[in-house]
Amino acid sequence: MLFYILLSLALGLQSNILTIEWRPTICFNYPCTKSYLKNSFNIKDFKAISETGEANTNCSEDQFQISLQVMMMLVEFWDYYEDSRHEIWENVWREHGTCILPKVSSEEYFQVAIALFLNSEIQERLKAAEILDSNGKQWGYEDISNALYYKVQIDCFKSEDEEFMLETINLCFNQGFQWENCTSDFGKCESSFILPWI
Ligand SMILES: *[C@@H]1O[C@H](CO)[C@@H](O)[C@H](O)[C@H]1NC(C)=O
Ligand SMILES: *[C@@H]1O[C@H](CO)[C@@H](O)[C@H](O)[C@H]1NC(C)=O
Repeated sequence: MLFYILLSLALGLQSNILTIEWRPTICFNYPCTKSYLKNSFNIKDFKAISETGEANTNCSEDQFQISLQVMMMLVEFWDYYEDSRHEIWENVWREHGTCILPKVSSEEYFQVAIALFLNSEIQERLKAAEILDSNGKQWGYEDISNALYYKVQIDCFKSEDEEFMLETINLCFNQGFQWENCTSDFGKCESSFILPWI
């Protein structure tokens, strides 16, 4: 761990960003498969961002190879609103997974992302703050960060009647995969938004 922290200081900072999406908002926007549509968060991406905020992409030719066990976890936590999941996982590995630091195999990449997602207890923390199933109540950026104890980045979907719905949350991790405050703002949420519930 210390080695990676020192390495990241020496190389300039790259952070690893886990993007999670609120399924009901996605399904408001796109036709979803029935299995996708639940009142829960889903992993969307796990990528490395350079100091300038750009995503690093396509860093190696390392093969996509995952165990059945990891695949079953992905179906549960890293689903896709359309059917072609397998292709999505392979693409996300090639484009973003190969750039994660410390360098990991495809199997480890998905294991780490799922572990970070589960350990961050997003759903439990938002529930404890009474933000989930809040019956159309409006929330602000601070409410989300306060409930999670870390500064996060959020993005919203704007419906036709100009209502903002929380769509994605970015959690920032250092190169030791420790959760940390995000240092920049991001996204297009108005000062208030809802979390739809199905
Ligand atoms: C990375 O590779 C994928 C195909 O493997 C390609 O679609 C994508 O455009 C590439 N990204 C960049 C930034 O070159
Ligand atoms: C993250 O930011 C919050 C305030 O927004 C602060 O209370 C907390 O100490 C910060 N955490 C770290 C690890 O810097």
